[in-house]
Amino acid sequence: MNNFKTYNRIARLYDLLDLPFEYGRYRPLRRVLFSRLSGTLLDAGVGTGRNFPFYPDGSRVTGIDLSPAMLKRARLRKHKLGTEIDLAEMNVIKMEFADDSFDGIISTFLFCVLDADHQQPALEELRRVCRPDGTILILEYVLPESPLPRFIMKLWAPWVRFAYGAEFDRHTEQYLEAAGLELVSKEFLYKDIIKLLTVRPDASGRPRN
Ligand SMILES: C[S@@+](CC[C@H](N)C(=O)[O-])C[C@H]1O[C@@H](n2cnc3c(N)ncnc32)[C@H](O)[C@@H]1O
Repeated sequence: MNNFKTYNRIARLYDLLDLPFEYGRYRPLRRVLFSRLSGTLLDAGVGTGRNFPFYPDGSRVTGIDLSPAMLKRARLRKHKLGTEIDLAEMNVIKMEFADDSFDGIISTFLFCVLDADHQQPALEELRRVCRPDGTILILEYVLPESPLPRFIMKLWAPWVRFAYGAEFDRHTEQYLEAAGLELVSKEFLYKDIIKLLTVRPDASGRPRN
């Protein structure tokens, strides 16, 4: 099933299903991510708007998502929290923004749901809409090295694939160079399970086709 169908199906339950992880795991990470960004920001794969409380003061944020049902929840959260954000239905691999539109781009748990075929096109689009001196943050799940957590995550994998269309082994960094992006840092923010890639447009050139 593609992400459009998957997320339209799960939107009503998304916040509920994620609740223990949101409060037990994600919120401190979201705070850290947004403390590193300012200016004109893109929240790519904005979902139900879980990042809203953490947008930096003074920033101007646009959120895009493929799923109308997820965006509907995001609009409800926007009104509830009074968040200043422009929301739009858009596919990250073909965005309607001009080149160099954003100072900072963030994607929290988007790349784990993008197929291998869509990783490079999505990164190319992020590069295109990011200013040359901008920053792109990519937060995603990966399979841990230690045997027991790895075994447990593998037990979870079929449910995560069914419910969210997500995989734990996307290896997003392998597509960066071809997409014209440079890896600034790779760090683990939760055990060796949640990884943050900080990347920027590669000054030496556009993506290789
Ligand atoms: C796992 S959710 C993460 C939502 C949110 N970023 C968060 O941190 O809770 C992934 C989101 O990416 C969206 N998505 C999937 N494929 C997409 C695409 N090609 N373009 C834009 N959004 C997409 C889904 O609809 C979903 O809302």
